[in-house]
Amino acid sequence: MNRKEFIGKLGIGAAFVLTTSCLGGCTRDKREVNNVDLTIDLDDPDNADVLVAGGYIIVDGIVIAQTLNGDYIAATRTCSHDQLNEILYDASSDEWLCSAHSARFTLDGEGLNANGANGLAVYQTQLDISTNELLVFS
Ligand code: FES
Repeated sequence: MNRKEFIGKLGIGAAFVLTTSCLGGCTRDKREVNNVDLTIDLDDPDNADVLVAGGYIIVDGIVIAQTLNGDYIAATRTCSHDQLNEILYDASSDEWLCSAHSARFTLDGEGLNANGANGLAVYQTQLDISTNELLVFS
């Protein structure tokens, strides 16, 4: 069976599957999501800045912020543009911002300008109100 016959036997359904997986793997998004498993003690005075809406802390290379809506969010500190550790939470725009060359990202890590085109690794958060701890994980 030659290549043309093989592709013909796969049919249009298989071609669609192959195409969609390529679309996912061929984007410019190069976010690197490392394994993250942090527990942030919100009673610790060192973490007081994240208790304020719009505030953030940096722990182990992760920026952990509280949005103006009171949601806790987390992202890598390392920018996907030039790998500088300059990512911050910008409460005025409710976006992730790199202070090095102004890359901007949605809270989901989608790039919003050319320098942010490679996206940003973001992490999940969960507040444990029984212990007043914030879990940050990948
Ligand atoms: S290193 Fe972040 S925009 Fe360049």
